[in-house]
Amino acid sequence: MTLGTGKSIRVLRIGHRYVRDYRTLTHLCLVSRAFGAEAIYLEEIDDGLMEGVREVNDAWGGTFEVHKVPSWKSTITEAKKEGRVVIHLTMYGLPVQDKAKELVEHDKFLIAVGGPKVPGDVYQLADYNIAVTSQPHSEVAALAIVLHELQRGEELKKEFGPAKMKIIPSEKGKRVEKPT
Ligand SMILES: C[S@@+](CC[C@H](N)C(=O)[O-])C[C@H]1O[C@@H](n2cnc3c(N)ncnc32)[C@H](O)[C@@H]1O
Repeated sequence: MTLGTGKSIRVLRIGHRYVRDYRTLTHLCLVSRAFGAEAIYLEEIDDGLMEGVREVNDAWGGTFEVHKVPSWKSTITEAKKEGRVVIHLTMYGLPVQDKAKELVEHDKFLIAVGGPKVPGDVYQLADYNIAVTSQPHSEVAALAIVLHELQRGEELKKEFGPAKMKIIPSEKGKRVEKPT
């Protein structure tokens, strides 16, 4: 599916240790969805996470998907076969601000983010190793910035379609519309 921004973007989380890292994983899903990605691929999925994402789609709209995959490597191979540009986010990569112009020329992407430890061959398999600053921080922050750059900010205006709730942006307070 191609989104309103004209880009088809999927996210791959590389690495395990989800049990200890459940909150980060949830945030990766929420940020991917809110910032215009279609789906996230995970090697391990907790039922609670699937249910949580389903509830968010149900309440706020959209069709964001969570998929369990056999391995990060086969997911990258498949993505390349589909013509996706594979971007690995790492502090050791080339600065996003230097590569953004080149990247936005493409329409289909797989963005790979790591966890506590990333296997070395990811760096070779990726088409681009991209850094959001050359400082250590978070896969959630790096993902948000790169999704924003790839879609030139258009994702901020994304419409999520039919939903149980819709926020009416307000200067003060909370306004939520509940279409019947
Ligand atoms: C906690 S960091 C792990 C850092 C680890 N030492 C490594 O191999 O890069 C988890 C993930 O956050 C992302 N990340 C952290 N800092 C980043 C940066 N400056 N630019 C891009 N991605 C970054 C990467 O995807 C990384 O795999």
